[in-house]
Amino acid sequence: MKRKLLPILLAAALLLGVFSVSAGAAPGLGLPSLAEVYKDHFMIGGCFGADKWSGGREELFFRHYNAMTAENAMKPSSLYDQDRELDFRAIDAMLAAVSGYGNVLHGHTLVWHEQSPAWLNQNGDGSPVTRQEAERNMASHIGGVAGHFAGKVYSWDVINEALSGAPDPCDWRGSLRKNEWYRAFDNGDPGEAGYDYIDFAFRQARAADPGAILYYNDFGLDNARKANTVAAMVREVNGAWLAQGNTRLLIEGIGMQGHYDLSTKAKDVEKSIQLFAGLGVKVSISELDVKAKPAMPGEILKQAAVYAALFKVFKDNSGVIERVSFWGLDDGTSWLNLPQFGGPGADPLLFGADLNAKPGYYAVIDPEGFLQTHRRLGYDIFLGSNARAWMDAGLYHPNNYLRYGYTLLYYLLWPGARVAYWVKDIF
Ligand code: G3I
Repeated sequence: MKRKLLPILLAAALLLGVFSVSAGAAPGLGLPSLAEVYKDHFMIGGCFGADKWSGGREELFFRHYNAMTAENAMKPSSLYDQDRELDFRAIDAMLAAVSGYGNVLHGHTLVWHEQSPAWLNQNGDGSPVTRQEAERNMASHIGGVAGHFAGKVYSWDVINEALSGAPDPCDWRGSLRKNEWYRAFDNGDPGEAGYDYIDFAFRQARAADPGAILYYNDFGLDNARKANTVAAMVREVNGAWLAQGNTRLLIEGIGMQGHYDLSTKAKDVEKSIQLFAGLGVKVSISELDVKAKPAMPGEILKQAAVYAALFKVFKDNSGVIERVSFWGLDDGTSWLNLPQFGGPGADPLLFGADLNAKPGYYAVIDPEGFLQTHRRLGYDIFLGSNARAWMDAGLYHPNNYLRYGYTLLYYLLWPGARVAYWVKDIF
């Protein structure tokens, strides 16, 4: 009933000018707000930086997102001046300019091995500072930053990406990256060890901003080994904290970054969400995007199908999910366009560079409906020796996502084989 009414309501609203879409405004402005669609489930966020709000993007961002994360502007390297003093002028001005929208602010990130001034944990020659100095610097960094944002930040990524590439669930301590913080904390008296920079950082953050929900954030947590290693770490750190008579958890949330691609299995993501839920913590999908490289027609639909399957899982588990944040707004300003991350072509988000909604957007606002109407016919469906003719005959309109109607799409999966999709009109 609700689904049948949606197009009629939309048409009526457009006729009445309810959405006040002006000429030249971002096309996605007239569409249902993602935040509104999910208001009874979880917050929907996006990462921001100056480019994310340029060229009509600001209105689109705040129409669809009710949470926000600074893509780079709250990382340690963005907050210090040349005299090693904290300088919040740039980020404060950015936040003040959009305070009227009332979005929830998620802080990213206090401790990371990247985008962090070397002097915090290293001497001039690159050797680690002593444990004592590292503790002092970390306490003053976290105290200064989390203290400054206390009352403004809803939650913090206290530590980002502490695990190495070969996680062992039976040995989370040994699975940590031997990063600069680890090495400096390891450079102390007998009995002191690198791994407890984790515990130290969370305790500092709790003291600096008792109101903030404290997260551990990492990528690749749809991998069972890595998820179980994180679970072991969180269990132990929280266990030690509770054993000291505390009643509130220290690590209260796990951020699953969610930098996914077309091979991501929503079932794997769900298993990890449920594993973390069993620890009593909240879960957020903190940096969602789905790489569709090379961004060919069939890939964009497959990407939409991945988004649909993921959002079905998020809805089914919304009791433990606090926030789902996209790592960007549109394909034109995604971090994946930077040459060091693969260059343009991944097209990972819900809006195209022209700010038109892609099939992924429709998959997200109605995952169940999308999965019902977009059926995958299977592998190895041959369309004859010249399948390319389907495209040449105009059955697919690559630049017009809204009018592809009933179309059979295909692409080369490996030489000689094809995957086909039966795509039903979504309106
Ligand atoms: O600002 C300079 C610009 O002046 C210069 O011309 C340009 C040349 O490449 O570089 C610009 O800085 C880049 C910056 O992004 C802003 O675009 C840096 O080189 C680049 O390294 C930096 O990348 C950021 C990356 O973290 C750093 O590892 C991405 O924007 C940011 O999206 C990405 O975010 C991370 C999360 O924090 C943690 N999880 C993974 C995620 C993706 O890598």
